[in-house]
Amino acid sequence: MMSFVSSQFRPQWFRKLATTSLFVALVTVVGITSASARDSSGYDGARLQSLVNAAHAKYRGLKDGANANYIPILDTVPSDLFGVVIVTNDGKVFAAGDVDYEFSIQSVAKPFTAALVMQQQGTEAVREKIGVEPTGMPFNSKLALELLSARSVNPLVNAGAIASVSMVRAGSEAERWQLVLDNLSGFAGTKLRLLDEVFESEYSTSWSNRAIANLLFNYERLYCEPEEALVVYTKACSVGVTARQLGIMGATLSNNGVNPVTGKRMLAEEHVPELLAVMLIAGFYDESGMWAYTAGLPAKTGVGGGIVAVVPGQMAIAAFSPRLNKAGNSIRAMKAIQDISVELGANIFLGH
Ligand code: DON
Repeated sequence: MMSFVSSQFRPQWFRKLATTSLFVALVTVVGITSASARDSSGYDGARLQSLVNAAHAKYRGLKDGANANYIPILDTVPSDLFGVVIVTNDGKVFAAGDVDYEFSIQSVAKPFTAALVMQQQGTEAVREKIGVEPTGMPFNSKLALELLSARSVNPLVNAGAIASVSMVRAGSEAERWQLVLDNLSGFAGTKLRLLDEVFESEYSTSWSNRAIANLLFNYERLYCEPEEALVVYTKACSVGVTARQLGIMGATLSNNGVNPVTGKRMLAEEHVPELLAVMLIAGFYDESGMWAYTAGLPAKTGVGGGIVAVVPGQMAIAAFSPRLNKAGNSIRAMKAIQDISVELGANIFLGH
């Protein structure tokens, strides 16, 4: 009808009506588009649930490895706990086993604190002031720090993670810790808390990490007082998290930096690939090559038994089981995620 009426002859009420209708139509289209992006994700939920169930059933009885004991309290966590979870980019959760047991996040905190530094200071600052190269050495290597000119090496080994914490812009230790904790909570989509007993156990035995902090300071690769960096780093490792929450943290990265549950942006979209690149080359420490070769996913492990892997643009796969191999990686969690990755064809190098 509009095409038959020349605009200069349209009465005032008609123009108003037309404008309003156009506005309503636009809102409806935009609404439908964003609703369909949220709701009809195209995931086959039944299949994801059956993959999670199958991985859990297959490895439930596996007893290989042992709890970490260099942090005394980790040895007291019931070794048989085992949970597997997928969280999709639209926030749907597919879970099997002990996915709501709260354990210490340990090194899985590292990429998320690196993300905070990237948010505050950009990715160039991380590359220049910490580094982004793999070490091929254990996570707590002092040798890597002495041999490699970057010293801190990358934000996912202890040295680089202590350096990350020291880079967080803060006026006091309390503020530094609050920023780090709030950031982890933002990724999890819920308020996380410090597990005091884990912190006490770890801080009272953290001679190796204290040495690393002091060495970094000596080489001018630490950006606050060593003891402050050590305390906040150790607290970050002692944050309680569940496998379900780890899944949401990972899904925030697979969802290009936006938490799929809260809708809050935690990392600029352009920084996500840079963070995932570091997770691929260093997330499993000296087993990162093996992990990239077999699972083909950016991921991060922790000696608390948690692992989170990211399928960019789609979902996160997380798992928790306290028994570790010699490199400090959870055996059942690793195997469960590997299986799911293979079944889904999620390997990022497959090219589809
Ligand atoms: O600093 C440490 O040794 C521990 N808080 C974290 C180490 C860790 O989780 C290594 N992960 N596989």
